Amino acid sequence: MRLAERVAIITGAASGIGRSTLELFLAEGARVAAVDRDGDTLSALCTGRENVVPAVGDVTDEGFAVRVVAETAARWGRLDVMVTAAGISVGQPAATTELAGWNQVMAINATATFLWAREALRVMEKAGRGSIVTIASQLAFAGGRNNAAYVASKGAVVSLTRSIALDYAASGIRCNCVLPGATETPMLQRSFGRAPDPAAARERSRTRHAMGRFGRSDETARAILFLACDESSFTTGATIPVEGGWLVA
Ligand SMILES: NC(=O)c1ccc[n+]([C@@H]2O[C@H](COP(=O)([O-])OP(=O)(O)OC[C@H]3O[C@@H](n4cnc5c(N)ncnc54)[C@H](O)[C@@H]3O)[C@@H](O)[C@H]2O)c1
Repeated sequence: MRLAERVAIITGAASGIGRSTLELFLAEGARVAAVDRDGDTLSALCTGRENVVPAVGDVTDEGFAVRVVAETAARWGRLDVMVTAAGISVGQPAATTELAGWNQVMAINATATFLWAREALRVMEKAGRGSIVTIASQLAFAGGRNNAAYVASKGAVVSLTRSIALDYAASGIRCNCVLPGATETPMLQRSFGRAPDPAAARERSRTRHAMGRFGRSDETARAILFLACDESSFTTGATIPVEGGWLVA
């Protein structure tokens, strides 16, 4: 098992990519603190299972991040992996993006990635080891229509990942980023639901991928697992596309 004895925190663990990552990490032997604001789903996912503890709250709340990281490290005596999968997408071009919407997307996607990574770094530095896996998007490299705040927030995640990788390589801590393409999750359904013609938007997006299909969240989770475990021991500051060839199409 690739995460035997390891302790991980996964934000956004109640749905989509975070949820698939939670299931894969547990199957690979990890002990996991599952973080999400969706308390009902989280408690349904965690009840009666060993090795997973729910942490219900808003990832943008600094006190919540500080508390969950400290409690997780105290409960299991270590913290090996941080996965920051919580995210939202609003879907507006720049001219119609309200400041409140911009701030909310940046807070959840970019600032919370910083916050949870920062708290993990403080524990991992003492141990001299750890792996942080952030989630951006292929749109951080390719650009994306009608989603200015989201695409900008994902660009920030890529740059933050590289910055952490560089600053903490000598401390034994790796930091890498996964770039999912359009992946069948509730977020993707909601984003097509905002389009004037959801079926046409869905078809446009599907055919934009070289492979002509959407990703599955378990496919992204396997890339996250690779970056989290020792199989990627010489990889840091990387951006790994899991996007069906979007960037080469
Ligand atoms: N699905 C895609 O097509 C796609 C593509 C590229 C990147 N991504 C990225 O992957 C990540 C996961 O997306 P997904 O598709 O699984 O989304 P999702 O909506 O299925 O799951 C996101 C989870 O994050 C949680 N969350 C959101 N805001 C939160 C907050 N403030 N505090 C606590 N929890 C919060 C939600 O409750 C939800 O459980 C996101 O960062 C997203 O931007 C997704």
